Amino acid sequence: MSNKFTSVHYHSYLELDKLLDAQHPRSVALGNPAHEETLFIIMHQVYELWFKQIIHEIKSVAALFEDDLVDEREISKAVARLRRITEIQELLIQQIKLMETMTPMDFLDFRHYLFPASGFQSFQFRMVEIMLGLRAKERLTYNKMPFDIVFDEKKKAELHEAESNRSMLQLINDWLERTPFLETDNFNFIEAYKEAVQSMLRKEKEAISNTTLLTDEMKAGRLKMLGDTDTYFSTVLDPVKHAEFMKEGTLKFSYKATIAALLIHLYREEPILQLPYQLLSVILDIEENFTTWRYRHAQMVLRMIGRKTGTGGSSGSEYLSKTAQKHHIFADLYNISTLLIPRSDLPELPDDVKQKLGFYYTSTK
Ligand code: HEM
Repeated sequence: MSNKFTSVHYHSYLELDKLLDAQHPRSVALGNPAHEETLFIIMHQVYELWFKQIIHEIKSVAALFEDDLVDEREISKAVARLRRITEIQELLIQQIKLMETMTPMDFLDFRHYLFPASGFQSFQFRMVEIMLGLRAKERLTYNKMPFDIVFDEKKKAELHEAESNRSMLQLINDWLERTPFLETDNFNFIEAYKEAVQSMLRKEKEAISNTTLLTDEMKAGRLKMLGDTDTYFSTVLDPVKHAEFMKEGTLKFSYKATIAALLIHLYREEPILQLPYQLLSVILDIEENFTTWRYRHAQMVLRMIGRKTGTGGSSGSEYLSKTAQKHHIFADLYNISTLLIPRSDLPELPDDVKQKLGFYYTSTK
């Protein structure tokens, strides 16, 4: 590393000549200037710059999780970088309001000059989706065309390579699977948890049966709902059924990773589980923000072009709303909330496990 002191000018350091000479409204070039097109261009460019930063952060976090042993000290770094992504996402969601300062009529002044350009062609957006864990077979397609049809061969190859790499979803899954403490000589977390669930459900059944505030019909309805919850618990927590759901694509985290995520959530107050808990929370924030952006963008599109089709050839707002419902990556983390049980029903941890969870466990390579 060079310690040599160098100097640089603000303008050249930021390459502002290049950056500020990159806005060329087509409406101007075609002799019919539309005032709002500059905003439209700058908005998209700013988004692409933030996508670049998000990719930079995801790559660095993925590198921290690539090894089979992740140093605990690296987890706080990962949490900080992922937290930065959520802050960027907040900005991206917020900026849609700025886009909406352009009226639908203003947009029509230059929309016809944009054909067939579309957000579909954002390579970096696809890269973010892929690096987080969205796979081609899970995508909604439009006009039965593969999502990458809009890219040249080089870009397609880059996207395919990214798909073949381990995504954040897989890296987090693998890291969760290595969680210690799931089973010790005198403690089997999942067995203790299953018993606690049965006892909690028994108490709930008793409460429903004994109350005088519900009619028999209402009681029957509640008891049926409780039965469904029971089935859900047993389905998610049965390794064989879990594997079937994974095959179907309904679940993405493995059985072992799910159990580990559950342990982290249930006992997150134990010092050693604090950082893992923060990590899972920030990932859920990223997932939620992504969905919020998708909905917000779909709403804005509805306001701008109504039910018209998009310049990229999709059904427009309808397609975008569907992606918000379907393109979930870390949906399994929501399942964890379904599996949570009240603190009062939590299995007591044996002293030796409690002691270990009270100190930082540093793996030695
Ligand atoms: C007037 C403003 C906008 C309109 C009317 C609009 C419209 C649309 C439409 C209709 C689609 C669906 C694809 C198609 O058929 O073209 C789409 C996709 C997309 N747009 Fe926009 N958009 C606007 C602004 C933005 C901005 C500011 C961004 C920021 C980068 C953006 C990013 C995207 C992305 C990434 C997609 C692909 C989404 C996916 O396939 O999941 N859009 N847009």
